Amino acid sequence: MSVLTENFTLANGLQIPKIAFGTWQIPDGPKTYDSVTAALKAGYRHIDTARAYGNEASVGRAVRDGGIPREDIFITTKLPAEIKDAKQVRASFEESNSLLDLGPADLYLIHAPWPWSQMGKDYRTENIAVWKELEGLYQAGQVKAIGVSNFNVADLTSLIEATEVKPLANQIRWFIGHTQDETTAFCKENGILVEGYSPLSTGKILNNPDVKRIADQYGKSVAQVCIRYLLEKDVLPLPKSTTPSRIVENADVDFAISAEDLTFLDGLQDTDS
Ligand code: A2P
Repeated sequence: MSVLTENFTLANGLQIPKIAFGTWQIPDGPKTYDSVTAALKAGYRHIDTARAYGNEASVGRAVRDGGIPREDIFITTKLPAEIKDAKQVRASFEESNSLLDLGPADLYLIHAPWPWSQMGKDYRTENIAVWKELEGLYQAGQVKAIGVSNFNVADLTSLIEATEVKPLANQIRWFIGHTQDETTAFCKENGILVEGYSPLSTGKILNNPDVKRIADQYGKSVAQVCIRYLLEKDVLPLPKSTTPSRIVENADVDFAISAEDLTFLDGLQDTDS
């Protein structure tokens, strides 16, 4: 069975396809349109975008032209990290939805706990106010699920303590050698699905000889072992490619990595250097 037809279940019961097609750094226009079209053709049913990627309109056009019923496709988009004024949340959500033109997104995330130019700065108070706006959208049924991205344990704790709805997902940078153990464990304890972006460490891991040795044993590519590794850890991978054959390859991951090999992969470090 293809993993593309399998789902994780969010804490609110919503089914979310286990592999997402990531679109970060894919330029708007034909590149995004063609990649998303190839992903849909390959069987992906979960597309991840963001207002900040600037490619929502092309994602939406590819999904509309793909002819697959909207309810069979799961769309994630994100509130820009720079928006920390609660009053601006709804307008940005509506802008994303109008660019996508697919009806409301299924999952809406706060893109980061701080504006990118101020990474690490304390915006906890603002994030609570922004999150309450997301809660409002969720409670009014305007979006099926809400969550965050790039949040660490302190960011998550302050949000959970001050608000009603726990984030349903936290999308973080996650690959062999970069497994964010503390945040991942906290999310699992709190019923927050971990989604892993850059599962191929944006390509750097692909030449790693240790992962290559494991991949050879299974007759799989390094990319496939990297993506399967996330699934073995119940982390939702968001591989990204603009190459149709790789798009297919990255979802062809219906195999199991043995406990022994997982332990070996758990011990790898500096895989993106
Ligand atoms: P391309 O888009 O040219 O196919 P990540 O998902 O960690 O962000 O990594 C994305 C990068 O990895 C892109 O540069 C992409 O290149 C490359 N990539 C994606 N899938 C594969 C694959 N199966 N084999 C080799 N490179 C891949």
